[in-house]
Amino acid sequence: MSITAKNTVNAPSATATASPVNRLVHQVARPRGAARAEDFAFVSEPLPRVVAGTALVENLYLSVDPYMREMMDDGWALHAPLEGRSVGRVVESGTPELAVGDLVFHRHAWRTHALVRPEEARLLPRYEGVPLTAHLGILGGTGLSAWVGLTRVARLQPGEDLFVSAAAGGVGTAAGRLARHLGARRIVGSTGSPEKARRLTEELGFDAAFDYHQGQVADLLAKAAPDGVDVAFENVGGDHLEGAIAALRPHGRIAWCGAVAQYDRADQPPAAPRNLYDVVGKGLRLEGFLVREHLDARSELEDFAVPLLRSGALVSTETVVDGFDRIVEGFLGMMHGANTGKTIVRVVPEAA
Ligand SMILES: NC(=O)c1ccc[n+]([C@@H]2O[C@H](COP(=O)([O-])OP(=O)(O)OC[C@H]3O[C@@H](n4cnc5c(N)ncnc54)[C@H](OP(=O)(O)O)[C@@H]3O)[C@@H](O)[C@H]2O)c1
Repeated sequence: MSITAKNTVNAPSATATASPVNRLVHQVARPRGAARAEDFAFVSEPLPRVVAGTALVENLYLSVDPYMREMMDDGWALHAPLEGRSVGRVVESGTPELAVGDLVFHRHAWRTHALVRPEEARLLPRYEGVPLTAHLGILGGTGLSAWVGLTRVARLQPGEDLFVSAAAGGVGTAAGRLARHLGARRIVGSTGSPEKARRLTEELGFDAAFDYHQGQVADLLAKAAPDGVDVAFENVGGDHLEGAIAALRPHGRIAWCGAVAQYDRADQPPAAPRNLYDVVGKGLRLEGFLVREHLDARSELEDFAVPLLRSGALVSTETVVDGFDRIVEGFLGMMHGANTGKTIVRVVPEAA
């Protein structure tokens, strides 16, 4: 069994090879509602000069994430470089802490090359047999969110039943996979199309799945999990959170990871679950979390996941979009559900 289950979106772009210029994406407009391609612009500038205490990184893989849609409202400056996670290779160094050839993780992405200081870059461990992309997928912030939500927030126990929303996405597929290895009994997922629901049960290890467009989420979840669930891993908010509250057994737990349904709607009141007070009646625990407050859990995740990845018992499900030119398309596609698993943009076609 392969270690990553990848969808590759189209062929490598001929223009995406390493170039003498730095190519970047700027945000040039604030979206109203869903983000659009016109909100971004590609710019080129000379490669940054390496000075003492810095190193130049050629970015190999870039991460696009739902939180970036929130950053577009007021977090990112217009006409300025954007941030985002990347895995890259040091190609020139002015610091003894980073050597040419080192593989690093850093946050200066949406660009082909980045100038980093050692404290901004994390040297990546080389795990034989584990692909580099896993450091943005199941071993990256995506997998870590799933791990923290399951183990630290929900404290999932062996034999418990789980509901995961946005189950076919990066965090969702990682939550399903990790939960299985943590001993979950029945795992149910929601997603945005019948095809993705089919993939959840036939390829991604879920026991039942539904397309949330087919009715009320609470009804669809009640049908998919007629005996209820012990834990909900919530990525969507609104009607999904309402459905989770309805499906949870007394004293169940909700690990609230995200609310992707509301990121395009900053100007509207968030859709609150109408049954919120059932949290009291059922004695539920509803707890939100930010993965960045749990970075110390990375070593726990790696200890757990790396041997499973090496043996093939665990896979990092990814949609790889080929070519820096297609990063905006990859981001917008992810926001609209075009992905299965973690969305990663491959900058350098031959990157292994
Ligand atoms: N708390 C933290 O620290 C933390 C860290 C990382 C991620 N997160 C959150 O985790 C969630 C998943 O993130 P991810 O990176 O793994 O992204 P992802 O799930 O790979 O991609 C986003 C997915 O959201 C779904 N979606 C979009 N609009 C929706 C809507 N209106 N209703 C229901 N589903 C919708 C789409 O799938 P469908 O085809 O299923 O619609 C899409 O594939 C997000 O809420 C994100 O903000 C939180």
